[in-house]
Amino acid sequence: MLEEKLKAVVRDIPDFPQPGVVFKDITPILKNATLCSEITDAFVEYVKSLDVQVIAGIESRGFLFGMMLANKLGIPFIPIRKQGKLPAHTIAESYKLEYGQATIEIHEDAFLPGTKVLIHDDLLATGGTVVAAAKLIEKLGGEVAGFSFVINLEFLKGEGRLHRFSNNVISLVDYV
Ligand code: PRP
Ligand code: MG
Repeated sequence: MLEEKLKAVVRDIPDFPQPGVVFKDITPILKNATLCSEITDAFVEYVKSLDVQVIAGIESRGFLFGMMLANKLGIPFIPIRKQGKLPAHTIAESYKLEYGQATIEIHEDAFLPGTKVLIHDDLLATGGTVVAAAKLIEKLGGEVAGFSFVINLEFLKGEGRLHRFSNNVISLVDYV
């Protein structure tokens, strides 16, 4: 089963990026092309059951499978980036980190109002990042059609924050 295969290769890195945090490292997945295809195929199957016109991926690790997924579906990929990285006109949304604040941005002309957007990121932790992304989609008049993650750190209870945007949430690996 895909979940077991993924759990076998995702690495725990203790005390990164700061003491007390156990970082889930997905880079070993990226070395296995077959596994990457299996991940993308699982997301494709999920997205087929929804009405999705565009995939929005969150910098930086959300770009990896977000772009693969969009390309496989034959639909546009929209990058949501950290502040100051997108070159054209943008709108911004700030959110809380464990320490301090972060801001992400999207191009104003990323999609037309009414577009159904699936938001993709590699990992759901507290949900702060992806909630900010969902707000950006709605600010541009888009409809959040769902969310996809490779990993859900379920014990941080981020998923509950997403249901005000959409009940369609998929993750391939859950840590409870
Ligand atoms: C990590 C991860 C998610 C986010 C999840 O990204 O890739 O995007 O944190 O955390 P949250 O649910 O608590 O908001 P990070 O900001 O470390 O940046 P990166 O993807 O560029 O490595
Ligand atoms: Mg990230």
